[in-house]
Amino acid sequence: MSMGSIHSANAAQADYWNGKGGRRWAEHQDRHDALLQPISDRLLLLADARPGEFVLDIGCGCGATTVELAARVAPEGEALGLDVSETMLRRARERLPDELPARFIHADATVYEPPPGEIDLVASRFGVMFFADPAQAFANLRTGMKPGGRLAFACWRAARENPWLIVPLRAAAAHAPLLPESGPEDPGPFAFADDGRVRRLLSEAGFVDIDLAAEDFDLDVALGEGVDAAVEIALNLGPASRMLEDQPENTRAAAAKAIRSALAAHAVGESVPLGAAVWFVTARNPQ
Ligand SMILES: C[S@@+](CC[C@H](N)C(=O)[O-])C[C@H]1O[C@@H](n2cnc3c(N)ncnc32)[C@H](O)[C@@H]1O
Repeated sequence: MSMGSIHSANAAQADYWNGKGGRRWAEHQDRHDALLQPISDRLLLLADARPGEFVLDIGCGCGATTVELAARVAPEGEALGLDVSETMLRRARERLPDELPARFIHADATVYEPPPGEIDLVASRFGVMFFADPAQAFANLRTGMKPGGRLAFACWRAARENPWLIVPLRAAAAHAPLLPESGPEDPGPFAFADDGRVRRLLSEAGFVDIDLAAEDFDLDVALGEGVDAAVEIALNLGPASRMLEDQPENTRAAAAKAIRSALAAHAVGESVPLGAAVWFVTARNPQ
């Protein structure tokens, strides 16, 4: 087993998630999970984890979905959360209730050697779009799946369909240097926006019965706590936070002000509802 080994092509992502990116997620885990809960609920319904099953949670981060999956497969099943970020896995281990059958391992989905043919379900909430070679990663994960085993994950549709991420990013961009240009298939939050690409990758990896369901959410990016809370969340989650992470304090302050007025324009009482566009992807390992 190659626990802890990272494919060289994924090294930059691993550095990011072990560094500033991962630290922001770990520090603000409660709020991120509250914000993404409606998406988790839908994913868990689709994934349909059952008591006794062995489930792998890819890019589990701080473990929100691993914990929920473990509760569903308990007492005899097990949820295994896998991630390249020790920073986030530390948080996942801390928050795991003692009674739940879950473990976390530090590994890269591309080179991790799963126990052959044992996994009932491979699931992920936004943890599969960061691989340099996704077809290889999915093919690798499939070797661990039982015949007929299920794959279920959530990934973002196009950036323009996700104002909850783009409204703060545009506001920040008026004050900070743009993020480096990236192609539509480069690893990143929107790498799976193109449904044709996702179908192609999964089919190349040997999956069958591939289905993508588009669903739209109105996420309350303020969590009912007002516009200042929404600004705080935008500064710690998503591309605006990445754009501002290395900027001097005066740039961050100016950007935060601009983000505040952009978000305030969408406020409804203490909430700031903004659209989020998700693909729920399901597939099967052939029988
Ligand atoms: C957007 S975060 C999502 C975290 C978590 N699933 C959640 O919803 O809170 C993406 C996660 O994918 C992980 N990741 C990126 N590349 C990976 C790889 N090659 N193998 C395993 N995990 C990876 C990151 O470390 C990070 O935790």
